[in-house]
Amino acid sequence: MVEEVNEFDFENRIVASEYSEEHDADVENPLRPKYLDDYVGQTVAKSNLKVYIESAKLRCEALDHVLLYGPPGLGKTTLSGIIANEMGVNIRTTSGPAIEKQGDLAAILTNLNEGDVLFIDEIHRLSRAVEEILYPAMEDYSLDIIIGKGPSARSIRLPIPKFTLIGATTRAGQLTSPLRDRFGVLLKLELYTTEELATIVKRSAKILGIDITEDGAAQIASRSRGTPRIANRLLKRVRDFALVKGNGSITSEIASFALDALEIDHLGLDNTDRKMLEAIIKFYSGGPVGLETLAATIGEEAVTIEDVYEPYLMQIGFLSRTPRGRCATKLAYDHLGIKFATNANFQHSSDQKSFFEE
Ligand SMILES: Nc1ncnc2c1ncn2[C@@H]1O[C@H](COP(=O)(O)OP(=O)(O)OP(=O)(O)O)[C@@H](O)[C@H]1O
Ligand SMILES: [Mg+2]
Repeated sequence: MVEEVNEFDFENRIVASEYSEEHDADVENPLRPKYLDDYVGQTVAKSNLKVYIESAKLRCEALDHVLLYGPPGLGKTTLSGIIANEMGVNIRTTSGPAIEKQGDLAAILTNLNEGDVLFIDEIHRLSRAVEEILYPAMEDYSLDIIIGKGPSARSIRLPIPKFTLIGATTRAGQLTSPLRDRFGVLLKLELYTTEELATIVKRSAKILGIDITEDGAAQIASRSRGTPRIANRLLKRVRDFALVKGNGSITSEIASFALDALEIDHLGLDNTDRKMLEAIIKFYSGGPVGLETLAATIGEEAVTIEDVYEPYLMQIGFLSRTPRGRCATKLAYDHLGIKFATNANFQHSSDQKSFFEE
């Protein structure tokens, strides 16, 4: 993974500096798997990806453009690095909001090498003008540039290296359809099972030199709400408790004690989850309540609720999303120990909208 910045490359430099901090952290994060075989779970996405990578290598061509989508922390950034490693090419990392002008993107594209991966995180946040540069770049590997002004203006087509665009987004529904249609490979990442998370926890513990029992790993996994990033974070916090309150190794008891101290319950719900469910139940009689109203009530951003809190609460059947707003289900009442009163407004879960349908 070589970051090339030459002295004439001002636009590129700006983009790179804005993202280098995150990028460096990514490169150095030892917990990120580097190859597909170390990437736990996502079996469907992984096995299909293996075929596409193998085929591209046999054809000696760049891999088709890939769109990765799914809730935060499921491994989109990790997977983009893996794709570049498996293809044996360099990766250039940037993000939608970091590319402000058409020139920024044009500079990045012309500086790629044949076959390179360009990773654009939060691709749904690209501006329309910048997005338009991407269309011919993705489809024909060329840039359309206007030279001159007024009547003498003419457009020229500049070829660029054949590259692979990997776009990552938490909200595939916000992508414009011309952009979405230009991706040859669409991969949806799913929440992980407890078993997969336990494997990730054990792998991370080994890398970090932490002693952990099977039960300890299972305990952390079951409270990580289907998300590897959370599993890794909880592992580090539980390790702190193990060092200070125990003998350093993570057993089920230590894990349980630490996670209780962190106020994460046995399903992985934290204070905000509980506050949100309680607000729906107590202030809006179980719902439906509109997203914006709910956000204001609990003092969170609406997008945070949608991207971070809701996917898991919906997955475990605590929350339903109806056309009229959010509703708490009976399971949520039971979990919070509140008596379930049948609500006339309550809509059956069959009107639920899936996370990506919006
Ligand atoms: N399949 C996996 N196997 C092992 N570890 C994983 C896996 N997926 C993710 N991780 C771990 O979880 C962390 C978060 O993953 P990553 O940063 O790739 O998520 P993301 O989908 O890009 O999140 P965001 O949408 O917030 O950018 C990584 O540091 C990595 O260690
Ligand atoms: Mg990421």
